[in-house]
Amino acid sequence: MDFNKEINRYNTNSLKYDFKSANNKPEEVFPMWVADMDFRCCDEILDAMHKKIDYGILGYSKNDENYFLSIKKWYKNNFDIELKQEWLIPTPGVVFALATAVKIITKENDYVLINNPVYYPFTEVVEDNKRKVISSNLILKDNHYEIDFKDFENKIKKYNIKLFLLCSPHNPVGRVWTRDELDKIINICKKYNVFIVSDEIHSDFVWSGKHTCLLKYKDYMNNIILCTAPTKTFNLSGLQISNIFIPNVKIREKFQIELWNTGYSLINIMGLIACQAAYEKGQKWLNSLRKYLLKNIEYVDSFLKEKLPKIKLIYPEGTYLLWLDFNEFGLSDNEIEKLIINDAKLWLDNGKMFGKTGKGFQRLNIALPRKKLEWAMKQLENVFKKY
Ligand SMILES: Cc1ncc(COP(=O)(O)O)c(C=O)c1O
Repeated sequence: MDFNKEINRYNTNSLKYDFKSANNKPEEVFPMWVADMDFRCCDEILDAMHKKIDYGILGYSKNDENYFLSIKKWYKNNFDIELKQEWLIPTPGVVFALATAVKIITKENDYVLINNPVYYPFTEVVEDNKRKVISSNLILKDNHYEIDFKDFENKIKKYNIKLFLLCSPHNPVGRVWTRDELDKIINICKKYNVFIVSDEIHSDFVWSGKHTCLLKYKDYMNNIILCTAPTKTFNLSGLQISNIFIPNVKIREKFQIELWNTGYSLINIMGLIACQAAYEKGQKWLNSLRKYLLKNIEYVDSFLKEKLPKIKLIYPEGTYLLWLDFNEFGLSDNEIEKLIINDAKLWLDNGKMFGKTGKGFQRLNIALPRKKLEWAMKQLENVFKKY
């Protein structure tokens, strides 16, 4: 568990490191954008995968009861929720599940509700499937984002919303929704019969407050799809494995048929092995990781306060993605991006990718060794202290 160890990720087929020119970025930029971590995976997971490889047979595979029990126990221990085996449908990623849900719950040209600024595939899965996005934008008050519940309800009424995509905890603004906020969401959705897909992929990274799994709302669970995955938590994104829980039997059947229609039916063996090992044996590693990440967040917070007070950190309640407000510089998004890429030689995610309300913001991934983070922050300081 040496999170300080710097590992060279170049020439490893890494989306983050190896495809800069495909993304129109200069080769010399240091990538701190996409949400994977620069840390070595936990040994218990690697051991389980090695064991499978050494056995030498990697034929068609299917998730069994033990696979489910590992997830069940994790969710019971960490979120006090009772998941049922029959609700589970694994998919090759949460985004794949979001797209599937959009297809089965809405029709072409329907509106789907999201809360911008939000993880940009929320918009893509809607628009790519010929539906329309309507955003009830989060409002920023005293460095803290909130849902505008009046607007949320009005948009549901006005656009005849049948599906809401909830990001919980929220990427990129780092909110961990409170019980009170979730109560309000549920009550409004109940009133207008709105189905909710709850993307809880970041739920293992909560720094303050408490994550509430949306399936805690038992009397509304027939209108909820829960999306989970071990991939953010254990840095397994390349394995493309996620676990979707759908209590409503009719919706579950529709979801399953939609998956079959795409030609997808079986889980990949390495994803299966890694997911089970992670949930069975990864808790200790995760506990250490969380401590390390929290220190990284605290480091960025105090660095900015001291050296670059014009950049405001929206202090995260959850996730390892920091939402930085550059608006005080009075520069355009393009000017900020140019300075970050060409002068600081860093590649962050430009806030405008997360919707119009991301204007003037940048998203920074801090899941990397501290020394490298310190270097990156100094790069930012050298460029922005002049402005
Ligand atoms: C909110 C959210 N959902 C889903 C994903 C991606 O999930 P997957 O790789 O399983 O499609 C991410 C990755 O950053 C994310 O932040």
